This record gives sequence, C-alpha cells and structure tokens, in this order.
Amino acid sequence: MGHKIILTGTTGKLGSVVFKHLLQLIPASDIIVSVHNPDGHEELKDKGVEVRSGDFNDPESLVLTFKGGDALLLMSLPSRDDEYRIQGHTQVIDVARKAGVKHIYYTSLAFGDESDAKVMKAHYATEEYLKHDDIACTIIREGPYMTSYPLYLGFYETSSDTVAVPGDGKVAFAAREDLGEATAKIIASGDYNGKTVTLTGSKAYSLQEVTQLLSQELKKDIAFQKVSDEEFLKRNEDKRDVAEWWLSTYATLEKGGLATVDPTLEQLLGKKPRQLEEVLRDSLQNAKAGDKELAQWVSH
Ligand SMILES: NC(=O)c1ccc[n+]([C@@H]2O[C@H](COP(=O)([O-])OP(=O)(O)OC[C@H]3O[C@@H](n4cnc5c(N)ncnc54)[C@H](OP(=O)(O)O)[C@@H]3O)[C@@H](O)[C@H]2O)c1
Repeated sequence: MGHKIILTGTTGKLGSVVFKHLLQLIPASDIIVSVHNPDGHEELKDKGVEVRSGDFNDPESLVLTFKGGDALLLMSLPSRDDEYRIQGHTQVIDVARKAGVKHIYYTSLAFGDESDAKVMKAHYATEEYLKHDDIACTIIREGPYMTSYPLYLGFYETSSDTVAVPGDGKVAFAAREDLGEATAKIIASGDYNGKTVTLTGSKAYSLQEVTQLLSQELKKDIAFQKVSDEEFLKRNEDKRDVAEWWLSTYATLEKGGLATVDPTLEQLLGKKPRQLEEVLRDSLQNAKAGDKELAQWVSH
C-alpha cells in the first residue's frame, strides 16, 4: 500500500491544477479526492483516483472521508466570513488527526506576517492552530493570483477608463498554474515538514505599473488615481460589504507586505515563473475573464 494523500478543493481553480500535476508525480491509486459537492464530477473517477464526499462543515462525514489517508491537502475555504472559514478549517484539522492523517498541507496566502488585512485573519488563525497541533504540517503561502488583478485595482472592470485605489505598493503576483504545480511538487516530495513556504512570482509590480500594463493590453488610456478610503467606499457603494472588507488590504500593500519576491516558486518549477504581462494577455483574450473572476470575489 502506497502513501495516500487526500486532496480537497480539487474542483476549484487552484486545486484542479494541483491535482493535474500531482497525477504526473505520484500513482493515481495513492490519491483520494475529497469533494464538497460530488455531483457532476465523474471525470475525477476516470483518472483512477478514489473519490469521496467531504464537506468541511459536516465533520461527521469527514471521519470516513479521511480514513486511510496519510497526508491531507487542506484547501482554504472560499469565503469572506472569517468565523465560517476558521471553524471549517479547524474542524478539518481535528477530524484529520482523529482519522490518523500524519501530515497536513495548508494553502495560506502570501501577505507576510502581521498583516491587518481582513483576508488574512482566517489564514493566520488556521496557521496558528496547525503550528500548535502535534500533527506534522506545511503551510504554503500562495502568492496573490495574477488573475485577481481586478480586485487589487479596486474592482476594476475592463469597460472602465479609471483605476481608483486607496493605496499602492508592490505586489509579487503569481500565476495560479505555477502555484498549483509547485504545490503539487511540495506534496509529492513528502518533505517540508514544519516549514512555512512562500510562493511568489519573480517580480513585484506596483498597482500603477499593473494599470500601465493593462492600458497597453486594452489599447486605451486608463487613469490611475489614489483616493481616500471614503472615496473608495463611495465609488464601490453597490458592493459596500466587499469593498469595506477589501479596503483593509491597502495598508499592508503600502507597507510592502506583498512586495517580497521569494525564489522558492522558481526553484520548485525549475524555470522562470510566468510573467504578469503574459498572464494578463491570456486573461484578457479569454472574453473578460478578469471581470468574471471579480464577480466571483464579490459573491463569496
Ligand atoms: N492566492 C490567491 O490570490 C487567492 C485568490 C483567491 C482565493 N484564494 C484562496 O485559495 C482557495 C482556493 O482558491 P480557488 O481559486 O481554487 O477557489 P475556488 O475555485 O472557489 O475553489 C474552492 C474550492 O473549495 C471547495 N469548497 C467550497 N466549500 C467547501 C466546503 N464546505 N467543504 C469542502 N470544500 C469546499 C469548492 O468545492 P465545490 O466546487 O464543490 O463547491 C472548490 O473545490 C480559496 O478557497 C481561497 O481561500 C487565494
């Protein structure tokens, strides 16, 4: 019997890439896929992996799901509700320990330490919970997705000629495809026990620089404006909740919390990570993919 790894989040944008690469690195028979909503995911079974049902909010069901697993990829929940996320993550950790899982890999976010950004609250809480548990863990701080640029640019939609943000600073964006591949390599290595790994792109860009790149790609002038917090909220009145939540990110950005370029992603890939210019171009060719991704953020 091999070393069994349980994957969560496989139906999602990052988890599906991790899955694709892991299939090339370890035997499919060593992979158990825990799916939140198993309906309509027959293609997973065709890959030769075992598919089990697993809802983070139903700990009873997870006991059976995690049985026989040696390691677990805990994919962070997509939500702005901290309590919901923290409860879901800690329940998963508790059940994994009881089920005999020996190593948890957690997908956190590369905002550096001690950020006041609300998006980090559940990540820090989960990281702390894992560090104080006797189970082996690896915290993977995934770089901000390049395709999340509309969010960083203050909910920018491609129809607009203005980017208005309440702060600026460099961001070491990373391509989701690269993050997924590197995450799969970390898991397949069976290594990195007790480590916090930060995965970022090879260059950090200010939001003003991203706006210039976007201007070039969209072939139009896009004005870049730094606005007050109040003005930012006023401009995003139609999505006040998410705007208030996201506003807290800009102080971290201004302090350089997202600016650090870490070489680990490049080392794991064995080549230069994808560049923002390339990913922006692909994303913009794909019928307003950025606008679609933004709509998802607003709805979570
Ligand atoms: N690094 C970044 O810039 C960045 C950007 C966005 C998000 N994130 C974080 O990274 C995570 C993965 O990102 P993503 O882009 O892959 O998100 P995504 O496409 O929304 O995928 C989220 C995954 O979580 C699963 N899920 C949702 N609710 C669940 C539950 N109650 N129990 C178990 N699984 C559940 C979904 O399964 P179903 O499809 O079956 O619901 C899906 O597989 C996000 O959840 C978020 O925490 C990071």
